[in-house]
Amino acid sequence: MKLIKALILASLLLLASCGESKEKAPESSNDSAKEKLAQKFGLTLFELENGVGPIKEKLDLSPLDIEMASRGQKLFEEKCASCHKLDERFTGPAQRDVIERRTPEYIMNMILNPEEMIAKHPEVKKMLAMYMTSMTYQNVSKEQAREILEYFRKVDKEK
Ligand code: HEC
Repeated sequence: MKLIKALILASLLLLASCGESKEKAPESSNDSAKEKLAQKFGLTLFELENGVGPIKEKLDLSPLDIEMASRGQKLFEEKCASCHKLDERFTGPAQRDVIERRTPEYIMNMILNPEEMIAKHPEVKKMLAMYMTSMTYQNVSKEQAREILEYFRKVDKEK
C-alpha cells in the first residue's frame, strides 16, 4: 500500500513538473531570437515582452474585479473610444482581445507611455505602419490605466 502511494505521488510530481516545463519551453527555445531582437532595438527582454514605461515589474493580477472594470469601461469610452472599438479596426486596432495579444504590463505601458513605445518598440512600430496614426497619451493615471486593463480582462471573457 505504501509503495503504491509513493508511486502515485511520484507520478503526480512528475506530471506537475512536466506541465511546468511545457509552459516554459516555448519561451526558452525562443530566448536567443528574442534576445537578439531586444538587443537590436536597445531593449531589455522584459521590455520586449512588457513594453517600455512606468510598469517595470510583472503585475500581480487578482481575480477579475467587476467594479474596477466598470470604472475602466467609463474611461475607455471617454478617452479611447474616439480611436478604438472593441471588435473592429478603427483608427487603432480592435481591443477586445488585446489581452491575448499582449501582456498586461505591455498594455499598461502602451496606455501610459505611447510616445516612447512608438519610438522604441518593434511591435508598436509594426502597428504604426498598419494604422498610420500615432497613439497619443490621454492623460491617464497609473490607477486609471489599471482600471482600463481590468475592463479589457472583462470584455475578453465575454466573447
Ligand atoms: C488618436 C487615436 C488613439 C487614441 C485616442 C488611443 N489610441 Fe490606442 N492606439 C492607437 C493606434 C493608432 C494604435 C496602434 C499603434 C500606433 O500606431 O500608435 C494604438 C495601439 C494601442 C494599443 C496596443 C494594441 C496592440 O495590439 O498592441 C493599446 C493597448 C491601446 N492602443 C490602448 C488604448 C487605450 C486604453 C486608450 C485610451 C486611454 C487609447 N489606446 C487611446 C490610437 C489611439
